[in-house]
Amino acid sequence: MNLDKLTYAGNLENLADVQDDQRYTFVRGDVADRELVDQLFARDGFDLVANLAAESHVDRSILAPSPFIETNVKGTQVPLEAAKKCGVRKFLEVSTDEVYGSLGPEDPPFSEESPLRPNSPYSASKAAADLLGRAYFVTFGAPVVITRLLFPVDSQFPQARMPADVSHVGSWGGLSERVPEQTQKTG
Ligand SMILES: NC(=O)c1ccc[n+]([C@@H]2O[C@H](COP(=O)([O-])OP(=O)(O)OC[C@H]3O[C@@H](n4cnc5c(N)ncnc54)[C@H](O)[C@@H]3O)[C@@H](O)[C@H]2O)c1
Repeated sequence: MNLDKLTYAGNLENLADVQDDQRYTFVRGDVADRELVDQLFARDGFDLVANLAAESHVDRSILAPSPFIETNVKGTQVPLEAAKKCGVRKFLEVSTDEVYGSLGPEDPPFSEESPLRPNSPYSASKAAADLLGRAYFVTFGAPVVITRLLFPVDSQFPQARMPADVSHVGSWGGLSERVPEQTQKTG
């Protein structure tokens, strides 16, 4: 099931390949709409969830930050909570390398241990979503995996395809479930 609000960034034509598949359904709606999301989880009992819905354009986040908080922060907590209640098998939170901030030409590359230093309302909202994912993992044992993509993920442009490990949701067994030491439960 695909839940998408179809904002200016949404384009159903990108899903033309799967729209006739009997296993596929589309719901137009807001990922931050708790009532709707709870209903969908209760009705369909998902076992795998991938959260890619986002306000994602940095320039727009500078002009108008509020929708970024609503969609990226509340729109992560709402499905996380629904997933916790339903006992999903895996929750993939699609984040961005921008949570680490900017690199100068001489700086070493980011790693998972790099501090979070978001520089825009967009990246700050994605960092907040990551931390909610981490908190659900640590506090509730929710099966959250966070990926901070370094690649362009833009379905509008064929040259900027999503990496295969994210797009092949049917083979999530192959995804890394490595958990940084600081996120281990301490009791
Ligand atoms: N494009 C990149 O280069 C890149 C890089 C790193 C991470 N990401 C992350 O990957 C994910 C997908 O990125 P993208 O470039 O395809 O984004 P996009 O902005 O092109 O598309 C976002 C999608 O989310 C939908 N959406 C927006 N608000 C919604 C809401 N409230 N409820 C339901 N659906 C909503 C839109 O209709 C659209 O289909 C995002 O989480 C983004 O932060 C993207």
